[in-house]
Amino acid sequence: MRFVADQQVEDIEMPENLKLNTFLQEFHSDCPAPECRFGLYGFAFGQSPFHVPAPVREALCAAAGAGSYAAVPGIPELREAISRYNRHYFGFDAAPERVYVGPGTKELMFNLLEILHGTVILPTPAWLGYLPQIRYLKKNFHMLPARASGRIHPGDLRRLALRLHDRQKILILNNPNNPTGLIYGRRDLEEIAAVCREQNIAVISDEIYAQTAFDPGAFTSMGRIYPEGTFVTNGLSKSHAAGGYRLGYVVFPHHAQALRAQFKKILATEYTAVSTPVQHAAVAGFEPGPKMDEYFATARAIHRIMAEYTHRELCSIDGVRATRPEATFYLLADFNALSGDLARAGITTSQQLSEALIVHPYHTAIVGGDSLVLERTDLSARIAYVDYDGEAAFARYAEAPPRTAHERTEFAERCAPRVAAGIRMMARFLADARAGRLAPEPIPA
Ligand SMILES: Cc1ncc(COP(=O)(O)O)c(C=O)c1O
Repeated sequence: MRFVADQQVEDIEMPENLKLNTFLQEFHSDCPAPECRFGLYGFAFGQSPFHVPAPVREALCAAAGAGSYAAVPGIPELREAISRYNRHYFGFDAAPERVYVGPGTKELMFNLLEILHGTVILPTPAWLGYLPQIRYLKKNFHMLPARASGRIHPGDLRRLALRLHDRQKILILNNPNNPTGLIYGRRDLEEIAAVCREQNIAVISDEIYAQTAFDPGAFTSMGRIYPEGTFVTNGLSKSHAAGGYRLGYVVFPHHAQALRAQFKKILATEYTAVSTPVQHAAVAGFEPGPKMDEYFATARAIHRIMAEYTHRELCSIDGVRATRPEATFYLLADFNALSGDLARAGITTSQQLSEALIVHPYHTAIVGGDSLVLERTDLSARIAYVDYDGEAAFARYAEAPPRTAHERTEFAERCAPRVAAGIRMMARFLADARAGRLAPEPIPA
């Protein structure tokens, strides 16, 4: 039998995460050249390098026998733990009945976009997951480019909203931000919220990196600032290094009971409920306590060391600029000052930049700006500084946390030698571009 896919599915573009996999398979192969035995410097995949915290793993094992289906919005213990988690860490009052659990925030965002009427406003640069969903659901959308500060400006939001004629608009705000690593401060959020109130804009506030804020006091949840209009999403994937558990949650705005009922219908139709053992494991991860406190504190301290190191080393390369991260494990690097040198090697788009860096002899994977919804010719790229053994770094940090600037650099170079070598490789690539030496060398047989 020859199967025929539905035309609607045929028309869907491949999402960027799959494109990235295909791209790596197509362009990278382990190189036979003896000097290239390092494999690949991985700055492309956005995954926490750490281990799943012990209380979560233990709770998962203990719940192995929980074979019954769970309630659609999540088991009550988990919705209560998530409520306490938000109050304890983010000062955000999320009553359990406003919490809905799903198989990852990505799925929950998709469900929200399914039920919410209105044009989507997408700030750019953006995480590569949003646009394929918006396109799949055939929603109207507009980009809203960030200013030089790396953040959107409330005046720009207002001007765009005034041009849109829907009764309701939807802003996807990602704070802390992937790919810039930047945080929207409380004042920024208040100004954005004022525009949202005035222009009837609902906010999907993707706060999956909230727990990684290097200074926890610098992060404010939009759910506190604009409680009547914000859907806050978060989960286990980044803060608990458990993307594979597929567990996320959304906190609905105040006074949205009718919409919650619609949402529940969608969840029940599409996946019934999240795996029950995983929900029990998540209770242990969201329940505030000294073990989880220590885990989060160590994780954010190491992310900070790696952020400072990566930022400093990249910015010491002539012509390279980068955002200075305040959270996450990414930064946005800007190679546009080198556009003349790169153009001479035939590189005029971010896709070509990624292709030139992944091949022999550089073998370095980055995410080009076009996957981040930037202009094709914007020579920017997301750099994820996570290509290291996180569990070993945790152990070393627990033994002797580095205190001085020198110790912090030493820690980064010892614990993340591939990150250090990968940055040196990017410097070599750019030096080759400047010297007109970029034509790829033939790979030795
Ligand atoms: C900004 C952002 N939002 C959402 C997600 C997806 O999270 P989840 O694993 O909960 O679906 C990611 C994962 O990379 C992300 O970077």
